[in-house]
Amino acid sequence: MLGPRRGWQALRRCVSLPRAQREVRLRVREALGAREPAGEVKVQGWVRSVRSQKEVLFLHINDGSSLENLQVVADPSLENRDLTFGSAVEVRGKLVKSPHRMQNVELKAETIRVVGPCDTLAFPLKTKERHPLEYVRQFPHLRCRNNTLGSLLRIRSEATAAIHSFFQDNGYVHIHTPIITSNDCEGAGELFQIETSNEAREPAEKTHFFDVPAFLTVSGQLHLEVMAGAFTHVFTFGPTFRAENSQSRRHLAEFYMVEAELSFTESLEDIMQVMEDLFKTVTSTVFSKCPRDVELFHKYIAPAQKTKDRLAKTLKNKFVIISYNEAMEILKQASQTFTFKPEWGCDLQTEHEKYLVKHCGEVPVFVINYPYDLKPFYMRDNEDGPQHTVAAVDLLVPGIGELCGGSLREERLPFLESRLQRLGLTDAYQWYLDLRKFGSVPHGGFGMGFERYLQYILGVESIKDVIPFPRFSHSCLL
Ligand code: 4AD
Ligand code: MG
Repeated sequence: MLGPRRGWQALRRCVSLPRAQREVRLRVREALGAREPAGEVKVQGWVRSVRSQKEVLFLHINDGSSLENLQVVADPSLENRDLTFGSAVEVRGKLVKSPHRMQNVELKAETIRVVGPCDTLAFPLKTKERHPLEYVRQFPHLRCRNNTLGSLLRIRSEATAAIHSFFQDNGYVHIHTPIITSNDCEGAGELFQIETSNEAREPAEKTHFFDVPAFLTVSGQLHLEVMAGAFTHVFTFGPTFRAENSQSRRHLAEFYMVEAELSFTESLEDIMQVMEDLFKTVTSTVFSKCPRDVELFHKYIAPAQKTKDRLAKTLKNKFVIISYNEAMEILKQASQTFTFKPEWGCDLQTEHEKYLVKHCGEVPVFVINYPYDLKPFYMRDNEDGPQHTVAAVDLLVPGIGELCGGSLREERLPFLESRLQRLGLTDAYQWYLDLRKFGSVPHGGFGMGFERYLQYILGVESIKDVIPFPRFSHSCLL
């Protein structure tokens, strides 16, 4: 997209050209960012409101480049039956100084062309109405034209760019890890298996497309570990799939995960530092790049409207670190009764995560060193006696629970061999064992759920409201 400055540079370059070539197409955002009124422009977008007065016709148009609309003022003779809320228009005219306090400029229209009319009666979105998220979720193909989803999608786009910049600026190499894979990284059995439509129709068919069962990836970690053996610092950021039969407000079947892997790393502190830096850098960038979009969420969507103040505090302070053992002590001493009784060796349930975060002052909390038997095969053995733990770390955040999961990886061949053998996985993971035979180094990494991240920084209740398409929700198979 042209920035405001480039738009105006383009405008200046065109002054001496004949009229037809002089016209500059501006995005609404560029037009709104203009300081000085200037020549002929063309703006295209969708009508957000029409107000017809005796002397003047007012339109507000939006093209998705900003939350704010561009005001168009026109002679009432330009009004036409098809010029309604939701219609697509092309307006030619001059940007002039606006008499209104809230905007620098407005577009004085010379011509208005309705490119695509809109049947406002049938159109599910209504002018000037603040539709609840639950309402617009019923119209997955139209909801991006609503202010809230528009802001969300711009934020999502900025956050994606900020995540890539964070890693690139810190010397990480970006890797496209495969989506179709034969490994089950987490070993939790939450896999979607894939087959061709022929195989699905003929289950007795013996020839499979791949020689081995193939799945949609649950994590790119194992592939990143391969690359960390050559590049030291690598990351991936792509779609991830989990067949968790959970309709909870923080689970999706398809979500995006940011994952990083660091070689020559011997301490969990190094991994936690990257998680914390990533969170703080990306959040600060998003807040400064789309302040109005973020404000919409903090003002109107975030429950109890505490998100903004809490986040400001979070960005300034160090995250808290506690061990799993300490977490269990805190939970056992809690006055609250839990549905799942906290016991050493059991996984932390959402209710436990919420309590721990509250106990620590509603700030992000790293919980480290989990029981050995709770965690996947790749985590590094802490060799610590009867309460046997691995060097794992989960980052818990207010309102969400687990945002990131990571660990040091078991880089010692004998430890990994015996664990894989006990799990009956030795044959499948020969290639992974090779990584420990040829130049193995201490390393570790983590994964952050992108949708949970957005939920947290924006205070959004349901994870289905931070994805472009609420796939596989009740009404949508887009
Ligand atoms: O904790 P998880 O399962 O960690 C891994 O997959 C590691 N292999 C990552 C790594 O070390 N490279 O998943 C990481 C994060 C979770 O903390 C959570 O935020 C998110 O992914 N996540 C989900 N988000 C939405 N819907 C789901 N069903 C999710 N499952 C995990
Ligand atoms: Mg986890």
